[in-house]
Amino acid sequence: MNTVIRRATAEDRHAICDIQRAAILETCRRCYPSEDITVWAGLLSPETYYDVENRYIVVAESGGALEGFGQLNETEGEVDALYVSPKREGKGTGGALLRHLEERARAHGVTQLKLRSTLNAESFYARSGYERLALVRYRLVPALMLVCVEMRKRLTN
Ligand SMILES: CC(C)(COP(=O)(O)OP(=O)(O)OC[C@H]1O[C@@H](n2cnc3c(N)ncnc32)[C@H](O)[C@@H]1OP(=O)(O)O)[C@@H](O)C(=O)NCCC(=O)NCCS
Repeated sequence: MNTVIRRATAEDRHAICDIQRAAILETCRRCYPSEDITVWAGLLSPETYYDVENRYIVVAESGGALEGFGQLNETEGEVDALYVSPKREGKGTGGALLRHLEERARAHGVTQLKLRSTLNAESFYARSGYERLALVRYRLVPALMLVCVEMRKRLTN
């Protein structure tokens, strides 16, 4: 079945939240302590995406179901989020979403994209040309400090 990448709408908020929660609970769990995973997944609710239409968030959809989503901040030149349903992992969805966000960034004159990768996704980004800058501790909320990898890719035309 064909996968389509399109802008997210308010109707997608529940599905986006479900994908993010499942990806944290299953995929990110491989690299983070379970106490952190519990706090992290517990932060999510569809309300987190109340302003989904004001941000550049795209979803990958196939057969009426969402497989993943990605978020780009064009002003900061930063990939803010990229999550694929664990059920769809390894089927090209994450790569397709990332390429889409890169194209969008290029179209907005961004010459260098940065992101904060989870430990589990570092190899995925490295395969797409992102270089590791530093291992950082990122305080998501007072009760949660996540070790992440700052990465960067120069965009060429
Ligand atoms: C990271 C993530 C988005 C990848 O999505 P995906 O749909 O599984 O990735 P793809 O199938 O498009 O894989 C693209 C390439 O990366 C490789 N790849 C994917 N995940 C990988 C991993 N964890 N380690 C190494 N390589 C990986 C694939 O083998 C593929 O390589 P190829 O192009 O040579 O065939 C997904 O695993 C995910 O949602 N993870 C949990 C959430 C997360 O950590 N997101 C990052 C937040 S910064």
